[in-house]
Amino acid sequence: MKKRVFSGVQPSGNLHIGNYLGALKNWVEIQGEYESIWGIVDLHAVTVYQDPAELRSKVLETAALFMAVGLDPKQSAIMAQSSVPEHAELAWMLTCVTPVGWLERMTQYKAKALAQETVGDGLLQYPVLMAADILLYQAAIVPVGDDQAQHLELTRDIAQRFNSLYGETFVMPATHLPIVGSRVMGLDEPDKKMSKSTTGAGHAIALLDPIDQARKKIMRATTDSNPAVDFAALGAGVENLLNIFQAFSGWTSEKMRGHFHGMRYGDLKKQVAEMVIANLEPLQKRYREIMAEPGYVDSVLKEGAERVSPFAKSTVRLVKERMGLYTEA
Ligand code: TYM
Repeated sequence: MKKRVFSGVQPSGNLHIGNYLGALKNWVEIQGEYESIWGIVDLHAVTVYQDPAELRSKVLETAALFMAVGLDPKQSAIMAQSSVPEHAELAWMLTCVTPVGWLERMTQYKAKALAQETVGDGLLQYPVLMAADILLYQAAIVPVGDDQAQHLELTRDIAQRFNSLYGETFVMPATHLPIVGSRVMGLDEPDKKMSKSTTGAGHAIALLDPIDQARKKIMRATTDSNPAVDFAALGAGVENLLNIFQAFSGWTSEKMRGHFHGMRYGDLKKQVAEMVIANLEPLQKRYREIMAEPGYVDSVLKEGAERVSPFAKSTVRLVKERMGLYTEA
């Protein structure tokens, strides 16, 4: 039997090349090797307020983007988290074995909480729901970007604690990071992770950015006061541009050095822009085709939920039995 893989993306903001290089690109590469489940995690998105109409359309847009980058609904289950109620059900059970101190230590929680006037309980519970997403499907691996590594460690801690209290129940999920591209930085601020929620005009390249705009953002990316690429002294901005190129091209580090060492920043940027655009153009074309077919994305999400629902039900039943909660005979 194939091992299972689960990963997810929040349908908030616009998906960008960091999400692609850190996560989605990897998903496409491994979808045939594992029994693959890819979630649009809308319950996570509402841990901070989302405009309801916008959220609804973002769920569909995200599902269409999953397919546009190459996830194949025949090989993979593509589903919306809220359409499988066991995610929330298991999250409650895991909440009951999770010390609050573990959650308060999460760096993403601390950062997000600082940005809110009132901190909703959901923001604190966020990583428990994420653990539930993964453990619900007994996923063996979880391909994510570097920023989710701490949440994955917590997932293993929660699973271990549950297993030691109630007996072996959960598979320990391994974190699967890409070799290049696990942390794409903002183009305007290369010391900060590229993020969906940062709104600066030159910060992120969204997968659906008009091509001209994407090119402009790269040409304006922050570099440093040196004139040309020097691998012995790479500034953060130049290193980020090189990483983006390498992650898209799949070039070896040797080839990167040979090609880019000594190149003037203006030329480097042109080549990075061409590489990014060569990848965005076909993706955007597929996206438009997918969205043009009425009802198609909805049908994929419906089918995805139907496909994974039996796994979810079987885990929740097992967890209930382990905990002594009522299950029908
Ligand atoms: P989210 O929606 O913030 O991001 C989706 C994926 O993109 C990766 N990523 C990046 N990778 C490289 N560079 C960046 N600048 C960058 N920004 C984001 C993220 O690491 C992630 O893999 N909590 C998760 C969603 C989630 C989840 C799960 C993931 C919910 N349940 C279960 C895995 C398993 C999140 O907010 O991802």
